[in-house]
Amino acid sequence: MSFDIDTYQRISAKLEVDDIDFSAFETSPLAPDVLRCLRYMHDVENHTVCYLRDILVTRAHRDPEVTSFLTFWNYEEYWHGEAIAKVLAAHHEDAGSGRIAALRQRLPKRDAWRPLTFQLASAITPHLTAVHMTWGAVNEWTTQAGYARLAKLADHPVLSELLRRIMKQEGRHIDFYASQAKSRLTDSRAAQRLTRWALRRFWAPVGSGVMPDEEVHFLSTYLFGGEEGLSVADRIDRRVDRLPGLQGLDLMRGAVATAA
Ligand SMILES: [Fe+2]
Ligand SMILES: [Fe+2]
Repeated sequence: MSFDIDTYQRISAKLEVDDIDFSAFETSPLAPDVLRCLRYMHDVENHTVCYLRDILVTRAHRDPEVTSFLTFWNYEEYWHGEAIAKVLAAHHEDAGSGRIAALRQRLPKRDAWRPLTFQLASAITPHLTAVHMTWGAVNEWTTQAGYARLAKLADHPVLSELLRRIMKQEGRHIDFYASQAKSRLTDSRAAQRLTRWALRRFWAPVGSGVMPDEEVHFLSTYLFGGEEGLSVADRIDRRVDRLPGLQGLDLMRGAVATAA
């Protein structure tokens, strides 16, 4: 598994949506549960820049390959949020900057301490970047799988095409984070131990701490519950198992069980 940052720099782009017929949702609207997932995804995609804030205060910013990737990653995720905003707007739902501003106002007080927490952790251990890269891989795996599950459950041709394009870009994010995680964990047993401890102790589905618990639990069970959902969750857990030192964490199984 290798990642070529120069290739990514060349192909990284704003999500193409000009040819997507968003007006189709007027005549063929999405089900309420699907819209509930899309509201969550809209909010979390738009929160990427805040996650970026937390990474850049750590020693990860010293690695130019990491910062190049994060630059394009943040840009692509921004347009994922904008694309989903168009779907919500087609259903006459609040989306975009008004919704984002309201969410930022609602963030818990502890959010203000996140940069300081990460900065201190980075001063204490040289392995925080391994944790960040592994965390990113898990979140990109779950995001891409979540979009695939949503496309299947919604069974709407316009949404499926939009999500297919988003998933393609998420695949490149996976390639970067997973290759970084693998090489950093391979290089150091201490990085393995710290990453294993951090995931076991703190990992929760992407959006936790930003979205209300009720919404996190709904999304987890709607997309990853039931027979088909659980088999997708297991597939993600097996991918985590294949990273050095991270066998048997069962993060997704645990998240779905907690949500249920
Ligand atoms: Fe995204
Ligand atoms: Fe992504």
